[in-house]
Amino acid sequence: MSPARAGPVFFAVLLCALANPAYALGDAKRGAYLAKAGGCLGCHTEDRKGAMPYAGGRALKTPFGTFYGPNITAYPGSGIGRWTQDDFMRALRTGTRPDGAHYYPAFPYPSFTRIADADALDLWAYLTSLPPSPQRNRPHELRFPFGWRALAGVWKWLYFLPGAWTPDASRPATLNRGDYLVNALGHCGECHTPRTMLGASRRDRHLAGGKGPEGKGVPNLTPAKLKKWSNDELREFLLSGLTPDGDIAGQSMAEVVRNMTSQLTSEDLSAVVAYLRSLPPVADAAR
Ligand code: HEC
Ligand code: HEC
Repeated sequence: MSPARAGPVFFAVLLCALANPAYALGDAKRGAYLAKAGGCLGCHTEDRKGAMPYAGGRALKTPFGTFYGPNITAYPGSGIGRWTQDDFMRALRTGTRPDGAHYYPAFPYPSFTRIADADALDLWAYLTSLPPSPQRNRPHELRFPFGWRALAGVWKWLYFLPGAWTPDASRPATLNRGDYLVNALGHCGECHTPRTMLGASRRDRHLAGGKGPEGKGVPNLTPAKLKKWSNDELREFLLSGLTPDGDIAGQSMAEVVRNMTSQLTSEDLSAVVAYLRSLPPVADAAR
């Protein structure tokens, strides 16, 4: 293109960009950070050396059977290459597949529904910027009757509360940021909030710990328990997995630290700590 024509074309493109709402095009770089804060990599990457990131195949053992995180690279067919941005928004926001079927809540959309639109668009921009992988999805191996996907629809109808999170104007910005990181992106409650027999989160025991998805016990994150740790000790644990008594994070928390909390900016880490400190204390449940 000659320089004489490049000028007007450049301005036309610039004008289009300015005319569109700020969120029309996501920012893949911001999306890369949000994907870390949301732990997308761990559940969507096979647990072996050299595995292709986000190409799926990761086994997730639960009391209902084993789920396999699907391929979420932009390969048409086995990945999300034929999806539109709206399909992606609907999956996160409503736990619904492009064909209308329901996702199992092993995909933490009960938390991700709270992700802000602009952040979801950045995640989409990031995922679609990755090299696509043709790796096929492995079918989940679920116990009877959970293989029947319509049950996920029943679960949603009973317990799922869709809707984006809104900041609470009466609180400092750092508490709002911490709340968002813990409850929307970080989905800490998916493990740290106990559930009823039917798998509903117990709102009265928010982040108060319980049996946990692996059945070996997940600690209470409310000040009733965590007050024994100083802010610095809590930060250190979220960065390195080391506890004040020299233990190291075990079970699934090791991976949460590696893939998620240790990747947070110093500011975001402080927001998480401040938010956990602000929770109403809930004593451990009687055994
Ligand atoms: C705790 C594990 C876990 C985490 C964390 C997780 N996912 Fe998933 N995801 C799953 C599982 C399991 C499914 C399949 C659910 C089903 O088949 O009903 C899924 C499905 C999806 C799908 C639908 C794929 C398809 O082919 O239908 C998308 C898109 C997706 N996840 C994106 C994300 C993004 C983006 C993040 C991070 C913000 C994320 N996931 C974090 C476990 C996870
Ligand atoms: C996949 C499940 C899972 C998720 C998601 C998860 N955790 Fe954990 N967490 C655990 C388990 C299991 C332990 C116990 C680790 C052990 O046994 O060493 C734990 C331990 C902890 C501890 C140590 C508490 C103590 O008293 O020992 C802290 C702090 C913590 N998690 C914070 C978080 C935060 C903050 C998030 C969200 C960013 C989060 N966790 C998300 C499973 C999870």
